[in-house]
Amino acid sequence: MSNLANEKLVLALPKGRILKEVMPLVHHVGIRPEAAFDDEGSRQLRFTTNIDNVDIIRVRSFDVATFVAFGAAHLGVAGNDVLMEFDFPEIYAPLDLDIGHCRLSVAEPAALVDADDPQTWSSVRVATKYPEITRKYFAARGVQAECIKLNGAMELAPTLGLCRRIVDLVSSGATLEANNLVEIEVLAQVTSRLAVNRAAWKTRPTEINDWIARFRDAVESKGRAA
Ligand code: PRP
Repeated sequence: MSNLANEKLVLALPKGRILKEVMPLVHHVGIRPEAAFDDEGSRQLRFTTNIDNVDIIRVRSFDVATFVAFGAAHLGVAGNDVLMEFDFPEIYAPLDLDIGHCRLSVAEPAALVDADDPQTWSSVRVATKYPEITRKYFAARGVQAECIKLNGAMELAPTLGLCRRIVDLVSSGATLEANNLVEIEVLAQVTSRLAVNRAAWKTRPTEINDWIARFRDAVESKGRAA
């Protein structure tokens, strides 16, 4: 486990579409990664920054939570979808970054919608990347959810007969529409959070509280400018 006070602070950022939204905040807090970070051809995964004791790693969004929970990264940016799915006690998430807005929803084929009433379900089978959230959500209203774990392209599952329904992130709704699916129920609203390893926060409170304060200021300034 790596939380020694003299180690470099590691900030884990998610690959993909959230990265574009998070970088203005990272710049606002005063962190500028080395040039390779913006080079799409580079296979580098860990980057130095203009700040001597801060490095950035770029990993899949689910892995941000894992790196932070195990103390391999001290800070990270993760959606509350990922944080809820893992529910790691080692992660403290003090700040909503007000980016990555989307929702976690149930969807089904358009042809099924009119004849279907989710309130009458006693069990449901879904394809999802979020089996824990899905099971808990349905269990809370007495519905047993059978989850088929997929890591992407959930929208293919209903047309190929894997199951009729999916639980997945919806942002613009374009992916559902392109696959003839309709959103029928929202499980949770999602935004990205600043995630902090609790042990690191205890051993390096001054430094980590300073980064939390800087990110808070970045979010507030963005809010004022909007
Ligand atoms: C997410 C999600 C949907 C899509 C929804 O996938 O899993 O497929 O975005 O966005 P929309 O409502 O704007 O169409 P993403 O592109 O992040 O890739 P992933 O499948 O690797 O998670």
